[in-house]
Amino acid sequence: MDRQAALERIRMLSDELREHNRQYYQMERPIVSDAEYDRLLRELQELEAAYPEYVMPDSPSQRVGSKPAEQFAKVTHLTPMLSLQNAMDEGEIREFENKVRRMLGDVAGAINYTCEPKFDGLAVSLTYRDGVLEQGATRGDGSTGEEITANLRTIHVIPLRLLGSKPPQIVEIRGEVYLPIDAFRKMNEERANEGEPLYVNPRNAASGALRQLDPSMTARRPLSFFAYGLGQVTDLDFESQFQALDWIQSCGLPVTHLRRKVTGIEAVVDYWREIEGQRDQLPFEVDGVVVKVDSFDLQQRLGFVSRSPRWAVACKFPPRQEVTQLLDIFVSVGRTGALTPTAALQPVFVGGVTVSRATLHNMDEVRRKDVRIGDWVVVQRAGDVIPEVVAALPERRQGTETLFEMPQQCPECGSDVVREPEEVVYRCQGGMKCPAQVKESLFHFGSRRAMDIEGLGSKLCDQLVDTGLVKDPADLYRLTLQPLVELERLAEKSAQNLLDAIEASRYRPLERCIFALGIRMVGEHVAKVLATRFGTIEKLMEATSKDLESVYGIGPNVAASIVSFFSQQTNRDVIRRLKEGGVVFPPAVELRKDSASGALPLSGKKFVFTGSLAGFTREGASDAIKALGAEVVGSVSKKTDYVVCGDDPGSKLEKANQLGVTVLDEAAFSALLTQYAESL
Ligand code: IVH
Repeated sequence: MDRQAALERIRMLSDELREHNRQYYQMERPIVSDAEYDRLLRELQELEAAYPEYVMPDSPSQRVGSKPAEQFAKVTHLTPMLSLQNAMDEGEIREFENKVRRMLGDVAGAINYTCEPKFDGLAVSLTYRDGVLEQGATRGDGSTGEEITANLRTIHVIPLRLLGSKPPQIVEIRGEVYLPIDAFRKMNEERANEGEPLYVNPRNAASGALRQLDPSMTARRPLSFFAYGLGQVTDLDFESQFQALDWIQSCGLPVTHLRRKVTGIEAVVDYWREIEGQRDQLPFEVDGVVVKVDSFDLQQRLGFVSRSPRWAVACKFPPRQEVTQLLDIFVSVGRTGALTPTAALQPVFVGGVTVSRATLHNMDEVRRKDVRIGDWVVVQRAGDVIPEVVAALPERRQGTETLFEMPQQCPECGSDVVREPEEVVYRCQGGMKCPAQVKESLFHFGSRRAMDIEGLGSKLCDQLVDTGLVKDPADLYRLTLQPLVELERLAEKSAQNLLDAIEASRYRPLERCIFALGIRMVGEHVAKVLATRFGTIEKLMEATSKDLESVYGIGPNVAASIVSFFSQQTNRDVIRRLKEGGVVFPPAVELRKDSASGALPLSGKKFVFTGSLAGFTREGASDAIKALGAEVVGSVSKKTDYVVCGDDPGSKLEKANQLGVTVLDEAAFSALLTQYAESL
């Protein structure tokens, strides 16, 4: 094929694929099979690979296939992304108009408003230059956000090129990325099948997907988008919000058909009630309506107060509640032995989700609300929180309801349950004898912010404890392949990956090791303070209450909890066996820098990572090497000392070879870590 023919074919394929995308994503009526679509896309990708000069920025191929980023770059929004003030009820909505009138003073007659749903997703800004999507960013702190263009490109309703013949030179389009409720449910079903923790709500799931460094991970989630406003814009002159929304829609961006221009505040209140009535039928989550004074002229006169406009208000919906019957109350045992009473409910649909369990928080709450087994109760799902029982309905009692008593023995291990003085919680005294506590501690130990052992999910922790393979976290470092493979549902490859991840976790920095131990009242922050202040695990283990309390930010309760933890022989044994199993507990960097011996073994060495490693997450690998004093940089240059190369390396590998930089494969990297970590 000659160049001209290739160019023509690229154009034809692009047009055809764009049309299929439109049919699929906007009309929801695909006219070709997935296989046919894939074939066209592949043909386009192959031609573009052969003629890279013909890859258009808005080519349908550009929605997929961007390489993972090292980390997100920061971008400054041309116009800040503001937040909104809230109105929680009708009174506050009317008060909004009163304030607007007071500010404007001389406005006669009714005020026009544009009303829109308040989408419960993530705010983003899309910058189009000469009609082509140039940059997409998160809101961040309002002035500076994170550059997530590659991820936003994977969202099919976001046009890569604006429709219309005369696009403005620059326009920032503002809107909300969200995950439709159906997609959210499907995603959680899949995660439940795989034993992965569930996302609490569509917003969290969308946020997780949008903040993936690897855009192909974002592309797997059916994210969507609604535009609701403009930031910076050149060459255009609109008179009102409603007009601006119409224009945005004419450019090919999705704008909700639920938008409405109304006159006077009573019509706003009606709109608010109407959308609340439709809330459970909508295919996406909304948590209120946003009301904006329609005229841009009036908006300008009203201006801003701190970071919110005076011309707009978020009218929130009340939290969603339903009535159902409480069938039973059972207790669950947490990592620290705390017993939480949980209600088993007759399943009920609350704001888009079927709820069959709800928390009762603690015994004091059960008594305060006088909730009894068999009662009809009000259940609430609000925002992120787990469903909770708000109140009982005593007027519906039949006389057969029974009072709940906290068990005196732990339902998991039979140990005594004690309520400590001045505490609301009841606690199982079984410690590491209690399988529920062991499971929770193990899960915490391997969690992302602790030892970051990929693949050690809660289901697997349960299995490891139930089968007796693991009795405490130190046993993890003695696991071998065969017994793991014999576990139900664990394929050989996953078992090997788990072992590799456990192996890699041996080098976690001290602060993570301390956090992972699960000492009561020692969260991530305190763990960091302790690591910096005491420098080694041995010194921390010997610290007295007095030593601990002398550290800024550590009070008597935290100090007592730490001393008590390390005074227990079982905990000291776990630490000893962790060390024997190869966990390094590397001395904290800050301390070692000041020590007499001076530099760390890899001080001044620059490392670059490319490709994916089987036994490390990127963050884990980078933490381990930084703990030895090395610096991790993003791109290869003559000053780079090592390039660590995993599967599917990028162009950095070529660059390293050109410049003659030492390349380490995963095995060599792992060996290097062991060698130096052991010399510490
Ligand atoms: S307008 C200056 N309209 O609400 C006005 N915001 O607290 C800026 N949101 O972070 C926002 N739906 O993510 C506007 N129809 C809508 C919205 C909306 C959801 C979010 C937005 C922002 C937050 C404001």
